[in-house]
Amino acid sequence: MGLENIGHLCPGFLGAGLLFFIGGMTLCMAQGNIHYYEFVLKESNFTRLCSTKSILTVNGSFPGPVIRVHKGDTVFVNVHNHGYYGATIHWHGVKQPRNPWSDGQEFITQCPIEPGTNFTYEVTFTTEEGTLWWHAHSEWTRATVHGAIVVLPAAGTVYPFPKPDEEEVIVLACWYKRDLRQMVEQALETGEDTPRSDAYTFNGQPGDLCPCSNETTYRMLVDYGKAYLLRIVNAGMNADFFFSIANHTITLVGLDAAYVKPVTNTYLVISPGQTMDVLVTANQTLGHYYMAARQYSNTKPDILYFDHANATAILQYRGNYTPPSSPFFPSSTLPSYKDFIAVANFTTRFRSLASLEHPTNVPKNATTRMFIVVSMGEFLGTNSSCNGINGNGSKLAASMNNISWVNPPIDVLMAYYRNISGIYEADFPNDPPSSYNYTGQDLPINTALPMRGTKVKVLEYNETVEIVFQGTDVLDDSEAHPMHLHGHSFYVIGTGIGNFDKETDPKGYNLVDPPLVNTVEVPQEGWATIRFIANNPGVWFMHCHYDRHLSWGMDFVFIVKNGDTSAASMRHPPAYMPPCTAPAADQSLRLFDFSDEKLNTFFRT
Ligand code: C2O
Ligand code: CU
Repeated sequence: MGLENIGHLCPGFLGAGLLFFIGGMTLCMAQGNIHYYEFVLKESNFTRLCSTKSILTVNGSFPGPVIRVHKGDTVFVNVHNHGYYGATIHWHGVKQPRNPWSDGQEFITQCPIEPGTNFTYEVTFTTEEGTLWWHAHSEWTRATVHGAIVVLPAAGTVYPFPKPDEEEVIVLACWYKRDLRQMVEQALETGEDTPRSDAYTFNGQPGDLCPCSNETTYRMLVDYGKAYLLRIVNAGMNADFFFSIANHTITLVGLDAAYVKPVTNTYLVISPGQTMDVLVTANQTLGHYYMAARQYSNTKPDILYFDHANATAILQYRGNYTPPSSPFFPSSTLPSYKDFIAVANFTTRFRSLASLEHPTNVPKNATTRMFIVVSMGEFLGTNSSCNGINGNGSKLAASMNNISWVNPPIDVLMAYYRNISGIYEADFPNDPPSSYNYTGQDLPINTALPMRGTKVKVLEYNETVEIVFQGTDVLDDSEAHPMHLHGHSFYVIGTGIGNFDKETDPKGYNLVDPPLVNTVEVPQEGWATIRFIANNPGVWFMHCHYDRHLSWGMDFVFIVKNGDTSAASMRHPPAYMPPCTAPAADQSLRLFDFSDEKLNTFFRT
């Protein structure tokens, strides 16, 4: 894989460089490097859990290649699709100022890169520092198509913690023994629940405790006395993970590529989409210690249908000693599957650094306030079908403010840019259609029936937005929701359990040092409040990062309008964008009529 530095360039304002006006002259101060990567999407054979299957990979590796940059750099990634299906790649947590064209969400900012074609993404790193990741953003392809992004501090700036001696990327993911695409297609067709994984993986390996996995367990070799930075990515499809290292404490210092005040603990919990920077010192008796991960299952205690596998890797001290017959397991520190108290005890300690070098800028007020009910639901069936969740053709669904997202046949971005009507509606509601006791038990069935729609929320440039996400117990199915926003980071100013109380809960908001993230887990039967400034013109997806909820429609789109100047306006599209072909857009839930004149014109051009 080619990684090439072609020197120091400063392409311009809000680009890879920063401009400063000194005495009327424009100087290029912070210099960003430009890197080039070639990503080949291709099928490769992998053997896990005693059987071999073909999976889609980037450059034949699982997890895929690490992208390493400094803050302020720009990366061009040429994605060649040698697979069987159209796909896109998203740069999770990279804000991509003014450039939604490279955000990589199919049917939101582009159409899929079809097999036999390629597309070059321009990934611009501006404010991010720490760990992020990239992943496919088409169907469930991201199960095997993902990798870490390491963003080092810019040259001349200082790492705000004691500098670790070495670092290690740890990508946690899921392994499915059967053909995932086929299983998911079938589940979405019949409306039943989507498949669960057969094991979890540490850098692609399930580890010692899983069948046929002994020889290949991932090992991290350490020297006694050294400090290590672990860059942990949760690339899991539908699972939060607890993570713990036997006998070692860990210190969280970064979250979603922004620093936090150190949180020292014996375990962590990480939800899909999140990335964590963690410091650990190798200060224990020379030996072999398990690093272990297991699912935090945030459904009701009586729901036991989840993957109970414990994934392990080994933290192995270098040196002359007789290793134990088996490594120590973090039995007393790795919380058990349903331990929501352990989750709260960790996640409520997140605070941004709020230092001189890493200040916070929390909006004190909001010009747009949204109260978004995130909920499970169902589309009722006809009794003539015996499929579905009730044997009557009913299908599982998910919604935000009762709207269940439907992908349009061409991407929202192109429709917005070219002013093509009939692709989306600009009336995503600020409030749910009705209020009820969201987290109450035995809710009436009418709370569970969403409407299908392709509704976006339009924001003026620089608006300050507040969103309260409210979880529900609809269908007796309360779950947490890791909500993720593209194009912006946001402050999490409050979370709580139960129904949000608009009188008392805002009194507890943290407007001083709340964490700045791109993903927030709305707790099971709880709420979370975020604030951000809509200062990135473009089209940006907001969705639950559990792929089952994403597929069921727990998604919507923000359009952030242009500001007054060109530096506050969206860029024009690159010369080539993957064309939208009718077959690629031919989805089962399609709302649109292809006889529409404008659409036909579009497909012909
Ligand atoms: Cu991790 Cu829409 O992305
Ligand atoms: Cu969800």
